[in-house]
This record gives sequence, structure tokens and C-alpha cells, in this order.
Amino acid sequence: MPEQVPDTPQRAQRAKKAVIPAAGLATRFLPASKVVPKELFPVVDRPALQYVVEEAVAAGLDDVLLITGRGKSLMIDHFDRRPDLEERLKAKGDQARLEAIIRPAEMATIHSVRQQEALGLGHAVLCAERHVGDEPFAVLLGDDFIDERDPVLPTMVDLAATTGGIVLLLMEVPWEEVHRYGVAVVEPTDTPDVVRVGGLVEKPAREDAPSNLIVVGRYVLPPGIFDAIRRTGRGRGGEIQLTDAMELMRQEGTPVHGVIFRGRRYDTGTPEGCLQAAIRLACDRDDIGPEFRQWLVEYVDRELRG
Ligand code: UTP
Repeated sequence: MPEQVPDTPQRAQRAKKAVIPAAGLATRFLPASKVVPKELFPVVDRPALQYVVEEAVAAGLDDVLLITGRGKSLMIDHFDRRPDLEERLKAKGDQARLEAIIRPAEMATIHSVRQQEALGLGHAVLCAERHVGDEPFAVLLGDDFIDERDPVLPTMVDLAATTGGIVLLLMEVPWEEVHRYGVAVVEPTDTPDVVRVGGLVEKPAREDAPSNLIVVGRYVLPPGIFDAIRRTGRGRGGEIQLTDAMELMRQEGTPVHGVIFRGRRYDTGTPEGCLQAAIRLACDRDDIGPEFRQWLVEYVDRELRG
């Protein structure tokens, strides 16, 4: 019998704060990420992190906590004003760029806390405890890019306000790729594209995989996660894993649901993903799109198709 997901949101508080862990070492993007945080790499003309903050704000979460690490304070600067630059743009009459540099400073209240050592995603989330307090909250990974034309965070926040517990974002991948990801054990519910999650299997072989639904970097978590993280030892790679803490809560009776995402998403933590996101967005832009698309078509015809 598929589970009934209640329609009326009355069982849990609604998440109001967003936490963006961005303190990882970004080894997949070296050497570019040696000094500059990968979250600041541009996707066309905005840093990847700005899109993630915009996504949180669009879901009604305009209190944003960035978890930063060594050498990552530039990320905070991006969300601050730049009076000297503003003056110059005003003098030139460049209104569009003036608005573009002020916008990041005005769209949300940005807070930050430092994770002193990169001990894993679970440990990074624990750094948010004091700021978040006793409320559910959303976690958005700074290197997971969801196209703003396919918003899914509002659905996740609504679902968590109805079901309570943990809400994950899941995405189908080809079965040959499941061994690279955390894969969910799922049961259907009465709501299309909402599943009950009965466990997570880390990087299974294709024949052992319980589904081809992988966990991607958006979560709505209850405040009990902090205590669960504290009770979680070091896991895979010697890191304190968020997945292990969520699994502990699930085993202790916390409901875990997944929203299946069918939109556009890129892993901007790798050069390939970052390039894919940039090319797709550039092609679709009204201003630079037409010329860029023409160049791309000519390039593919001339150089790739021979
Ligand atoms: P990743 O597994 O992508 O690690 O972390 P990473 O260090 O960013 O990148 P690679 O794999 O070495 O290339 C997932 C998310 O968790 C954050 C990262 O910044 C990223 O957004 N994270 C990870 C932390 O904030 N702290 C950590 O200790 C680990």
C-alpha cells in the first residue's frame, strides 16, 4: 500500500534558513581551486555560489549561512557592497552592471561560520547548529547547480513542513553510473515523484544497487540532525558523513522522504560540470545567447564533426 503524504502542512515547522557548506578542499578542481574557492568560479558571469543563494532566496529562505574554510573569505566579499566600483559604474552610466554588483549584497542576509578543519560534510553542517537553533533548515551544497528554471527547493520545503523529518532530493541516473553515488532504497507514496526512503547505499555495484535514484545536494533537515552528527563517528574517507547521521536518525524512527528531480542540474565541483552549466546557460541567454550559439554550432560543425 503506498503511503499517504498528508495534504495539509501542519505537523512540522517550516524551514526558514538555508545553510550552504562550502568549506571542502575541492580536489577535483585543482589547480584552479588551490587559491580561489570553486564556489566563486563563474558560470557565464555570476559565481556558481550566487546562483545557489538565489535559489535559496527564491524558495523563501533569505537567511543564509555560509560554512567557509581557510582561504574562503572571498566568498563573503562577493555578498558585500563595493562603493569604489559602484561609483565608477555610476560615472559611466552603466546601470545594468551597477545593479548586478549591488544585487548580491541585497538579496539575502548572509552569515558565515568557519569550519576550522575539513572533517566532512556532516561536520560542516554541525558548524551551523548555533545559527540554526531548534528549527528545520535547508542545506544546499555550493557545488551542486540547479537550473533556476527548474525550481525544486520550494517543493522540498513544503513536503518537509507536511511530513516532518528529513527530505532529500533524488535524481535518476543511468544504471552504469550508480557506482559513483549514494543510492536510495525507495518505496512509492501516493504523491507523484515523492518516495519514502528506506535507506541509502554508498557507491553500490550496479547489480547490488537498490534503485538508480542518487542523492543530490539539497536537503531539508530537522534540528535533531545536530545531535545525530555528534553521535556519528568518522565514516568513509575518515570524514564525518552527513549520510551516516541521516541514516542514524532514520533507524531511530525519523521519516525520510525523497523528491525526484527531473530538471537540469550540473556538478559545478568538476571542470566538466562547470563547462556544461556555462555552455547551456550562455546558449539560453537573451543578450549573449544568439551570437554564442552561432559560434558553438560553427565550432561543432567545423572542428568536431570534421
Ligand atoms: P565534496 O565531497 O564535493 O568535497 O563536498 P569537496 O572538498 O568540495 O570537493 P572534492 O571532492 O575534493 O573535489 C560536498 C560539499 O560539502 C562541502 C563542500 O564544500 C561541498 O560543497 N564540505 C565538504 C564542507 O563544507 N566541509 C567538508 O569538510 C567537506
